[in-house]
Formats: sequence, C-alpha cells, structure tokens
Amino acid sequence: MSQSNRVNFGSKLGVILATAGSAVGLGNIWRFPYMAGHNGGAAFMLIYIGCVIFLGIPGMVCEFIIGRHVSANAARSYLTMGKGTPFSIVGYVGILTSIIILGFYSVVAGWCLQYLMASILGHLNGDSTYIVNYFQTFSTNPLKPALWAVLFVLLTHIIVAHGVDKGIEKASKLMMPALFILLIVIIIASCSLPNAMKGIDFLFNPDFSKVDHNVILGALGQAFFSLSLGTGCLCTYASYFNKHIDLLKSATQIALIDTLVAIFAGLMIFPAAFSIGVSPDSGPSLIFITLPRVFLQAFHAIPIIGYVISILFYSLLALAALTSTISIHEIGTAFIHEEMHLSRKGAAWIVTIACCIVAVLCSLSVSSSSGLMIHGKSLLDCCDYITAQVLLPLGGFCTCLMIGWYVPRKVVKDEFTNWGTLRGKLFHVFVFCARYVCPILILMIFLNQFGFI
Ligand code: PFF
Repeated sequence: MSQSNRVNFGSKLGVILATAGSAVGLGNIWRFPYMAGHNGGAAFMLIYIGCVIFLGIPGMVCEFIIGRHVSANAARSYLTMGKGTPFSIVGYVGILTSIIILGFYSVVAGWCLQYLMASILGHLNGDSTYIVNYFQTFSTNPLKPALWAVLFVLLTHIIVAHGVDKGIEKASKLMMPALFILLIVIIIASCSLPNAMKGIDFLFNPDFSKVDHNVILGALGQAFFSLSLGTGCLCTYASYFNKHIDLLKSATQIALIDTLVAIFAGLMIFPAAFSIGVSPDSGPSLIFITLPRVFLQAFHAIPIIGYVISILFYSLLALAALTSTISIHEIGTAFIHEEMHLSRKGAAWIVTIACCIVAVLCSLSVSSSSGLMIHGKSLLDCCDYITAQVLLPLGGFCTCLMIGWYVPRKVVKDEFTNWGTLRGKLFHVFVFCARYVCPILILMIFLNQFGFI
C-alpha cells in the first residue's frame, strides 16, 4: 500500500485519545494495583513514575519517529529504518509479542465481562469469603472464562476489521472522559470506607527498605506495558499520524493521562482493600475481590446506586480494555494486510485465530489441575512476565539505540521538530536520553535482575 493511500487519524484530539486509549486499559486498572500491592506500594509507584519520565516518554517519541517516518506497519518500519542491522528484526519480535499479550489480556478482559454480567444479575452480593470464592470458582472453570476470552477477541476483531478511522478513533473519544468521571466517583466511595486511610498511606508513604531488583524490574515492565511501549504498537499508530502532530507533546500528554489513571486506580483499590481486610499483594485477583465489596459496602444505604455504579464500572473497564486490545490487534493486522497483500478483514482473521488459541491456553492454565504450568506459575502469569518484564523493555532498548545511534540525525530532528516548524528546544535532551540514559538504565536493570551487578 502506498503511503498516500494510508488512512490517518482525523484530528489531533483523535490522535491523543486513540493512543491514550491504547495506553489506558487493564494495565492501569488491573495490573498496576496488583504490581504495586505486591511490591510495597508507594516506593514502587515512585520508581514507576521515574521509569515513565526518563524511559517511557523518550521511548515513546522514538517509536513515534520510526512509525511516522516510514508510514507502514511495525515490521516494515523497523526493517526500513534499521536496514542491515540487527534492529531490523525488532518489528517482527514486536508482532509476536503482541499476539502473546493479546492472548492473556483477553482472558482478564473476559473476566471483566463475566463480572459485568454478574453485576447486572446481582450475583456479586455477599461477604468477603463469598466474593473470594466467587472469583476462584469462576476463574478456574475450564469453559466459561475461555469462552468470554474468545468473545473478547471477536469483539476486538469486529472493530479492527472496520479500520482505524471509523472504529478506533470514535470509540476512544467517547470512552476516555466517561472512564475518568467514574473512577473519581468510585475513589470517593472507596475512600469513605472505614480504615481507608491505611490504603492511602500504603500508596503515598514510601518505604524504600522494601526495594530490591525485582521491584525495579517490575516497575520498568509496568511502565512499558502501561504505555504500550516496545511492541511496535506506538509505531503502528504513529504511522497514522499526520505531519502536524507534535510527537514530544503527544507522548507527554499520553504518559500523563496514563499515569493519572494508574494512580486513580491505586486510590480506588487500596483504601478498599485495607478497609475490608484483603491483602494488597493478593495478585491478579485483587480488583476482582476488592471492588465488589466497595460497591456493596459504600453504598449500602442506597443499594441501587452501588448496583448501577458496579455495572457502569465493569462496562467501562471492558471498554478501556477494548481500546487497548484494538491497538494490540492492529499491530499484527496492519502487518499481514500490508505485507501479505491480504484484505484487511482476512488479515484481521489470522490475528484473531492466533490470539484465540493463546487466550484459550492461558485461560485453561489458571486452574492448577490443567497441567499448563511452568515452574509452578500458570501460563497466563508466564506470558505476562515474559512480555512485560523481558520482551517489552528489550524492544524499547533496541528502539532507543536505533534512534540514538543509527538513524541519521537529520531524519530524527526533522520528525522531532516537524521539519523545523516546532522550536525543538528539547531535541538535545531527547537525543541524550535515546543514546545514553534509556539504554544504560534498561541494561543496568536487566544485568541487576539476572545477577550480574
Ligand atoms: N497499555 C495497555 C494497558 O495498559 O492496558 C496494554 C498494552 C497495549 C500493551 C498495547 C502493549 C500494547 F502494545
């Protein structure tokens, strides 16, 4: 497909909302609270914010530059920009990574659909033990969660098959503001529960004695996962940006929105967890066992409000997940559509089928009797760990090195300053980050994790 035939996002707001829609999702609302809960709370959050500022934003700009410059899918973009170097395969690795992410992500998104249904039917009524058991029984059922996961991949398929401008942009414009408002309502409810202060303290009062290399790698992985960095997703989306988009400003705005939503999610979950006596390190089930209690307890005087908010929340969570799965799906679809000369619909089907297979395996692995365990961890946990904590930072590392050291400076500067029309005061800072700060920090975190320093 020639560059001039490619569809672009319609407006600057559309670009910000669609890309923020990719960034904001289960990573913020499901993954961030359980990672923070597992890794000590406030200290994790501060390291996370550091990773977003010093590694995330420059990394995002690097991916944007590659995507917008070549105006093609991730594989072609890296192949063109990194010609003759090992960087040329980064796009292919990103596409594989994206299939794995979409597989396990859809499982959790499917849980949200189940919880939406349960909220509508009023099945989330009961004490803490009932809510914990409800999650256990449902998530280890061999059939139901797998079906929800497949349904979620199919929903994603429908939107992606309709194309970037009609499906993706419109959905994001509606949903993002609604999600923000609802989060604030639930934060107020959660913070008004007895003992909520302990949760706020956990989130904002750092205890650095708990920080070790796992916490730092966890925060790095979380930042990359949450910003959709390192899979070629931002590169694919940037290929739909027009030449007037200010790349640094957009990256900063998206990172800000994304981080705010993560902090809001923490403020929603931890006060509730402490209030009802659920440990913040309960892992992936954290939001599914704390929130139903918030909806019941905080609104017990007028139960209908709790009922409505619960339905609204799980709908929005599923929609936030959907704008992210769309972006993950788009990485592979754009690649197959453009490189294998298949129709967009045909390309989308191939990605959908591959993701459904991964999703079903991940879903089955949650039950310990499935045999789909590696070193005692479910396949779902393993896919999460390998992608977020290894493959994404590695993708980001190569991307920064490529932009910092290999791509001609003039190309980088033209993209950064929109061909001299922006002042580009921070250009040298950006190049310094891409050349030294990002690669060195990521490398150090890796070496430390694997025991070399
Ligand atoms: N950033 C998304 C979230 O926080 O839910 C997840 C994600 C989207 C990861 C796109 C990777 C990706 F390419």
